[in-house]
Amino acid sequence: MIAACIFDFDGVVVDTADYHYLSWKRLAAQLGFEFTEKQNEAMKGISRMDSLDVVLEIGDIKVSHKEKLKMAHVKNEWYKEYLQSVDSSVILPGVVNFLEELTAEGIPYALGSASRNAKFVMSKIGIESGFAAVFDGNDTVKSKPDPEVFLKAAAALNQEPKDVLVFEDSYKGIVAAKDGGFLACGVGEKDILHNADFTIQTFENFNLNELRFMLAQVQ
Ligand code: BG6
Ligand code: MG
Repeated sequence: MIAACIFDFDGVVVDTADYHYLSWKRLAAQLGFEFTEKQNEAMKGISRMDSLDVVLEIGDIKVSHKEKLKMAHVKNEWYKEYLQSVDSSVILPGVVNFLEELTAEGIPYALGSASRNAKFVMSKIGIESGFAAVFDGNDTVKSKPDPEVFLKAAAALNQEPKDVLVFEDSYKGIVAAKDGGFLACGVGEKDILHNADFTIQTFENFNLNELRFMLAQVQ
């Protein structure tokens, strides 16, 4: 069995990807081009500034660093506007049950997210209490696919990466977990997250027994 778990936030614990997408789409529209849902796939797991670079490249727009900071700020203000009414309904199905199972089994868990809004959203939806440690985009210098955020979380949990299972919904997040020496469970499509040790579609109908079964195949 594993000693601890680390959860990514957006797309694993909560369904906030749409709010990110709507905010980037709004920025693109203001800049005069369309930003599609398919293009948004590339934004999963990467930092705000890296995401902005993706959007600007799609629009073939070149601006100064100062201008980029302004754009990222505007996008974040829109994102926070969408988050104003956010409540526990954004928690993805099955997540709370699985966290409760971990607690009952004495397996600690931490958060490792690229989002600088993760702590704010956690406080709004009341999910922080069970997490032994929370690391987000404010606590790191390098963003995924660099393993920094997961390594910091593992250190806070006093565990070696090899004994910790990371749950991630982005390809780059799985790269970060594997490069850091962690076990990685992809949450989503197997085709996209093929670099994970194993994948689950969602946390719905997932439990510790299932996890034991999955781990037995890879450990
Ligand atoms: C990640 C999301 O968790 O956080 C990305 O998957 C997002 O889509 C990134 O861009 C940064 O989020 P924020 O809240 O700091 O702008
Ligand atoms: Mg994610």
